[in-house]
Order: sequence, then structure tokens, then C-alpha cells
Amino acid sequence: METGKPEFGPPDGADELAAAADIIAQSFAMTPADGGSWVEKARATNLRVLREQGSVTATALPIPMGQFFCGRRVTMAGIGGVGVAPSARGQGAATRLMRHTLQELRTQGFALSVLYPATQPLYRRVGFEQAGSRYEIRVQAHGLDFSERSLQLRPVKDSDLPVIQELYRRSAASRQGYLDRGPYVWDRVFNPRNETAYGFLVEGANGVEGYLYLVRRRKVDILQEIALTDFVALTPAAGRRLLSFLGDHRSLAREVVWTGSQMDPLLLLLPEQTYQVKLLFHWMLRVLDVPAALESRGYPPGVSGTLHFELEDELFPENRGNYILEVSGGAGHVRRGGNSLMHMDIRAFASLYTGFLSPDALRSVGALVADDASVRLATTFFSGPAPALPDMF
Ligand SMILES: CC(C)(COP(=O)(O)OP(=O)(O)OC[C@H]1O[C@@H](n2cnc3c(N)ncnc32)[C@H](O)[C@@H]1OP(=O)(O)O)[C@@H](O)C(=O)NCCC(=O)NCCS
Repeated sequence: METGKPEFGPPDGADELAAAADIIAQSFAMTPADGGSWVEKARATNLRVLREQGSVTATALPIPMGQFFCGRRVTMAGIGGVGVAPSARGQGAATRLMRHTLQELRTQGFALSVLYPATQPLYRRVGFEQAGSRYEIRVQAHGLDFSERSLQLRPVKDSDLPVIQELYRRSAASRQGYLDRGPYVWDRVFNPRNETAYGFLVEGANGVEGYLYLVRRRKVDILQEIALTDFVALTPAAGRRLLSFLGDHRSLAREVVWTGSQMDPLLLLLPEQTYQVKLLFHWMLRVLDVPAALESRGYPPGVSGTLHFELEDELFPENRGNYILEVSGGAGHVRRGGNSLMHMDIRAFASLYTGFLSPDALRSVGALVADDASVRLATTFFSGPAPALPDMF
């Protein structure tokens, strides 16, 4: 049946919403009711569907936000909710869906797109590559016996939310790859799926210095695990007070779990290594607009130089060709032209851009071809803390 509707766009009408809800429920092992409410929420944001022979066969949810690199915000669209109707799988639907989604995001002006891949070949085919990590930090509660109570700690009130969001932003801006969250990701902090989050903050003489949101999970018998959906400490005193507060749960909670980078500086406050750090995911990034991505991010202060490179991009011809990137005073300026002494495709560029892999590491696996001088210069431009993300979307 031909409907005359475009192959890709927002769901249109009750039938398409129901089809999208069914795809989401079947793809992510949700109940039909949960699939329905997920789609209802997503519709209000940005839900997109793929139509084939008049029926909805696939879904995707672009999530507008930003991502910090060297202290500056780059526009980024996260992508969640990629699902294909079980009977339509294996015939290229997800590939077509991703091409449409990326085209639209580029047209809307997003410089980057990021996702957590359930399978890499699908996303590599449209230009994504590994570009950062998400670690789980699991701390034994008995190791959190600080008894540090000099700062005042209290439950978060609704009126604290602007201050909390501002505190998060200040903290995230100093972390490589952290999100400038939008409403979708904030909702996952405050209202994690099928769980209840409680917020607590600490105040010093100059106001709020840190906060956390925790979920209590019942484990064996009456024992618990504490999972944090957010954890920010802007001062060492706030870090100690919040860790001490988590330790106050140790009569029943055996472990406290949160996510983030491989080496969370808060772990340095613990007397012993009563923790384990585990890689959960390498997230993937797609550079949608090369000049916008390079000019809106920051660079290490004190670094300067002019780098020539050439890019290949199968999906977006606008990104192909030669660039000259001039960096000074923590900012980058891009123009077209120059030589091709450094050469890579858009996927290798994603790993380089975030600092996930050094130019030398990329060259060692054949993802980048360059002379030693270009490699040395690119290393200074794109070096920084390992890019990480605490948030899932
Ligand atoms: C993963 C999924 C989206 C793929 O949809 P699809 O329309 O079958 O994908 P395509 O036909 O476009 O395949 C593109 C590539 O993805 C990979 N791929 C496809 N299905 C896959 C699967 N089930 N498992 C692992 N990799 C898969 C293959 O490399 C494939 O290329 P190939 O056909 O040349 O081997 C679909 O199986 C699905 O909805 N799964 C459940 C939900 C899910 O995992 N979503 C992804 C969340 S990030």
C-alpha cells in the first residue's frame, strides 16, 4: 500500500504511533505498555520513523544536546531508540534509517552525533567510530567510613534544580566529552526507568558545592546496592561529605555504583582501593559538519600551529577534501585547501577529534596516513583527558 508519505519523518497518526510503540517494545524487551509510554514521550521530543511499502518498519530518536571538548560546547545530537520491526530486519532498513537521520541532523546544524552501539558495523557504515568510554565504578561501602560532616547535607528541593543544573554544567565543562544535557538526559537522572531517585546536596559558606541522585536497589534478602544517576562534587570538602553520606548506607548497602571516566578523581579520596572499575561501553561519534566541529570546540591552551589534512566521507560530500586547521589561544580556525600530508576517513577523524586515540595510535592500525611532523602537531591539538560519558541515552 502506497500512502504518499515520505520514506522518513515524524510518526503521523495513531496507527504509526502504535507501530512505533510495537517496534520499541519488541526491540528493547519492554512491555507493550512501556513501549507505548516511551513512544508517547519520544513523540513530544523528536521521534522519527522509516516507512516502507506504506508501513512503519524502523524508529530512531535524535536527542538534541551539546558535548564539551576542552571547555567549549559543541552541538551534538545523541541517537537512541534505533529499532527495526523483527520481520523487516536484515534488509537494510536500519542503514536507510540512519542515513536519513544523519542527513536531517546535519541540515538542522548539528556538528556531531553520538550513540551507544548494539552493533558496530551498522554505525560504521554511516561514518561513526569509537570515540570515548563509559565506565562503571563499583565501591565497597565499608571503604566509605569517612565520618566527614562539616558541610551541611540535605535532600534536594524542587527550587534547587536551577542551581543543581548550573553546578553540573560547571563540572561537565571541565570534563572531556561530558554532555551539556538536555531535558531527555536530565529526566533519566531524576526519573530512572522503573526506579526512584532521591537527590541530596551539600552546602558550604558560599552555597551548593555538590550533589548526588541515588537509587536504592534490593539485592539478596534485605541487602542493598546504591546506584547513583548523578554525582557532582565541585570542592574536595563536598566530595568527602558526599562519600561519607554514601558510607552512612553501609549497614544494608554493600556497594555503591556510579558511571563515568576510568579514573574518577573522587577515588583518590578513599584510603584503600576498595573499588573496581569496569568498561561498560565505547560510545561512537559521527562528525556531521567538519568546520563547525573544529571551530566550536576548545583546544589545549598554549598550543599553536597550522595542520593540513585531507578527509574522506562517503555519506557527506561536503565534508570531503583538504583542510587547514589553525590553532592558537585555545581556539581553532578552519579554511579549505592545503596539502594532503595527513589523510584519513571521517571515522578515524571521530576517534582523533575527541582524543580517544592519538594520531600515532590511529596510524599504527592503518586508519590514518601521515608524516611524523603532522602526527606530532595533531597530537598537541587533540590531546587531553580520556573522553568519557557518565550518561546513557
Ligand atoms: C540492530 C538492528 C537495528 C539492525 O537492523 P537491520 O535493519 O536488520 O540492519 P541492516 O539490515 O541495515 O544491517 C546493517 C548491518 O548491521 C549489522 N547487523 C544487522 N543486524 C544485526 C544483528 N541483529 N546483530 C548484530 N549486527 C547486526 C550487520 O553488520 C549489517 O550488515 P550486513 O547485513 O551487511 O551484515 C535490528 O536488528 C534491531 O532492531 N535489533 C534490536 C534493537 C537494537 O539492537 N537496536 C540497536 C540499538 S543501538
